[in-house]
Amino acid sequence: MMVRFRTLSSSCARSYFWRTACMASLTFSSWANIAGQNPVRYLGFAEVQETLRLNAASGLPGSAIQESAEWDTWISARDAEVRGRIDRGIEDSVSNLVLYGTSFTSLPRVESVERATSEAGELVPAVIARIHALAVALSSDTNNERVRFVREFLARKGIRRNTEEPYFTENLRRFIAEQAGYQNRLQDAANDTDPSAVYLARGTLFKTRGLSVDTSLLPNLALEQTLRAMLQKGALTTGSMRRIAVIGPGLDFTDKRDGYDFYPLQTLQPFAVLETVARLGLGKAEDLQVVCLDLNSAVVAHVQKLRERGRAGQVYTVQLPRDTRAEWSPEAIAYWKGFGEILGSPAKPLSVPATLGGVVVRAVAIRPRYAARMQVYDVNIVAQTLDLPTSAGFDLVVATNVLVYYDRFQQALAMANIARMMNHHGIFMANNVLASQHTSDLEYLGRRTTPFTPSGAYGDDIVVYRRK
Ligand SMILES: C[S@@+](CC[C@H](N)C(=O)[O-])C[C@H]1O[C@@H](n2cnc3c(N)ncnc32)[C@H](O)[C@@H]1O
Repeated sequence: MMVRFRTLSSSCARSYFWRTACMASLTFSSWANIAGQNPVRYLGFAEVQETLRLNAASGLPGSAIQESAEWDTWISARDAEVRGRIDRGIEDSVSNLVLYGTSFTSLPRVESVERATSEAGELVPAVIARIHALAVALSSDTNNERVRFVREFLARKGIRRNTEEPYFTENLRRFIAEQAGYQNRLQDAANDTDPSAVYLARGTLFKTRGLSVDTSLLPNLALEQTLRAMLQKGALTTGSMRRIAVIGPGLDFTDKRDGYDFYPLQTLQPFAVLETVARLGLGKAEDLQVVCLDLNSAVVAHVQKLRERGRAGQVYTVQLPRDTRAEWSPEAIAYWKGFGEILGSPAKPLSVPATLGGVVVRAVAIRPRYAARMQVYDVNIVAQTLDLPTSAGFDLVVATNVLVYYDRFQQALAMANIARMMNHHGIFMANNVLASQHTSDLEYLGRRTTPFTPSGAYGDDIVVYRRK
C-alpha cells in the first residue's frame, strides 16, 4: 500500500546567494579553491518560509516560529542539540561492539539484542563476559582501531579506569531498552487498522535516538535497482548526472545488523553511488564528482583522509563481508560480487575470524583517482546549507538511514535544504517514507521496494523525488 503524500504549492524561491551570473562559469573545484572559505552556514529565516507555513499547524518544535531573530536562535540551538546526539550514537556502536565484536575477544558473539538479557531482564553471563573482555582489551597495548576509538571516547567522556565495566553495563541496558521500545512502536503500528501506519512509524522511528554512523552494503543495491528501474521507464536519461551528494555516508564501525569488526573502519556509499551512476550510464566515472555531507567529525575526517591518500596515489581498500547463511537474493549476491568492478580491482581480503563461521569476504582496491575525487563538508543537513555556485548544484542526492533520525518538521527542513542545493530535474532518494509537509520544489515520483532476501523479510524501500 502506497503511503499518501501531500505536496502543497509554494511561493518560496531558492536562495540565490552566491548564484550570480559571473559564478556560472566556474567549475566546482576552482570555486572551492577560490572561495577558500567554509561555504557552510545556517539556514536563514527567509529560506525556510515555505516549510514553516506548511508545518505551522503541526505542533512540532520550531514550526510555529514567526520571527527571524527567534529562528536564528532556534536553528543554532537545534544544531547543537542534534550534534549532542552524536555521542549517544557512539555509545550505541560501543554496545554493538560489546555484543558482536570479534576483534577484541574470541568469546562467541551474542546472536541478537533479544538474546542479551534473561527473561528477568538481566544481562546474560555471556554478555557480562564480553563486557569484561572489552574492558581488558582497553587496558592492553592494542593496535585495534575500534578499541583505541573506545578508549579515546571514554577519556573524553571522563570515564575513569576501572569504571568501564559498570559504564558498558549501563550503556548496554539503555541500548537494549531503547531497542525494545522501537520494536514495540513498530508492533503497535502493525496492529493499526491503517495499513500505512507501519511506514509512517518507520519514517521517524529514531527521532530521539543517538546518531549512529553504521553503514553496510545493501542499501546501495536498493538505490541501484531503483535508478535502473527509472532508467528503464524513461524517467531518467543517460549522461544526465555529473555531481552527486551523499548525505550521511557513515562509517562501518560495528553494524547493528551484522556487527563485523574484523577490518579497518571504512565507508562504502560514496563509492557505491559513484559506481552505480557510472554502471547505468547516468554519468561517466571519470567526470563524476561526489560530495559527502556529514555532521560526524569521525566520518568527515575519514573521507578527508581517503581523499588525501587518493591524491597521493594510494588505493582505498574496502572489505565486503557476506554471511552465506543469510540467504541473500541472487541480485544481492550479484551486486556484492560486482562491487568495485568499475572503480577498482580485486584485492586479497582479510581473513575471517574463526568465530564468524559462514562469513565470506571480498576486497576491492579502489583506484586513487576515485578516492581523490571525494569531497566532504561538515554539515548538519537539517540546520545548515552549502552555498553553491550555479555550476555546482547536485544532479543526484542520496540520504539513506539519515532522515529517520528526525521529526517531520526537521525532515521537511532537510528536504527544502536539499532541494535548494539541487539542479533542476535532479533526483533525491531516501530509504524511509517522508510524510512531512515538504517543499513543492520536490515532486514525489514514487516508492520502490528492493528485497535483499528471497522471502522479502529484509530489504529497503526507496522513495524518489525530482527537483522541479
Ligand atoms: C546510520 S548512518 C547511515 C550511513 C549510510 N548512509 C547507510 O545507509 O549505510 C547515518 C549517517 O548520517 C549522518 N547524519 C545523521 N544526521 C545527519 C545530519 N543531520 N546531517 C548530516 N549527516 C547526518 C551520520 O553521521 C551517519 O554518517
